[in-house]
Amino acid sequence: MQKSTNITWHGAIVDPAERQQVVGQKGAVVWLTGLSASGKSTLARRAEQLLLERGAIVYVLDGDNIRFGLNKDLGFSPADRTENIRRIGEVAKLFADACVVTLTAFISPYRADRDAVRALMPADTFIECYVSASVETCEARDPKGLYKKARAGQIPEFTGISAPYEEPLTPELVLETGSQTVDESALALIKFLEEKGYIKAV
Ligand code: ADX
Repeated sequence: MQKSTNITWHGAIVDPAERQQVVGQKGAVVWLTGLSASGKSTLARRAEQLLLERGAIVYVLDGDNIRFGLNKDLGFSPADRTENIRRIGEVAKLFADACVVTLTAFISPYRADRDAVRALMPADTFIECYVSASVETCEARDPKGLYKKARAGQIPEFTGISAPYEEPLTPELVLETGSQTVDESALALIKFLEEKGYIKAV
């Protein structure tokens, strides 16, 4: 909902193509979605490191971290999750506009919320990447002990246990972290970005 009135959009003088040429890459939002403990953050961090090493300008927006700051006022109700994803979508759009390869790591359990983010930006900017691992695999990993707590009824509305996760129907990329190593997934992601021309080949 648009609350502010008497505001006017002020456009840039620089042309997007000129910015891309100076920065040397096209901006993109690689939207990682998947269950808690599916490997989104680990994958994003490793891909970030590898991309940076090859000279790409890249940045990670991570679920837990963003909830310490920008989204500290939001919890895990469906409405709060929707607002969480909406805000991150807007931030990611700005990063991509600045020609940064932006990796986002949020459960983003609702298809409609992810589709709404996709609709915010040019069609080729948004790359939905399903970080796929079964609930059983994630629960066996349980790095933060959250599945255990959720099973004990100590965390209400926990994704995969007592709150839904809607799998992507047509993601641009699927990375199976149950059967791939972190590096295999990270390299597959980088290969995709290179093949599609988001980053320069090395
Ligand atoms: S989202 O659903 O709104 O996209 P987000 O990715 O920001 O979630 O945050 C998920 C992280 O919050 C999880 O990795 C976990 O560490 C923590 N968390 C705490 N409570 C919950 C919950 N009820 N459901 C899922 N994750 C939770």
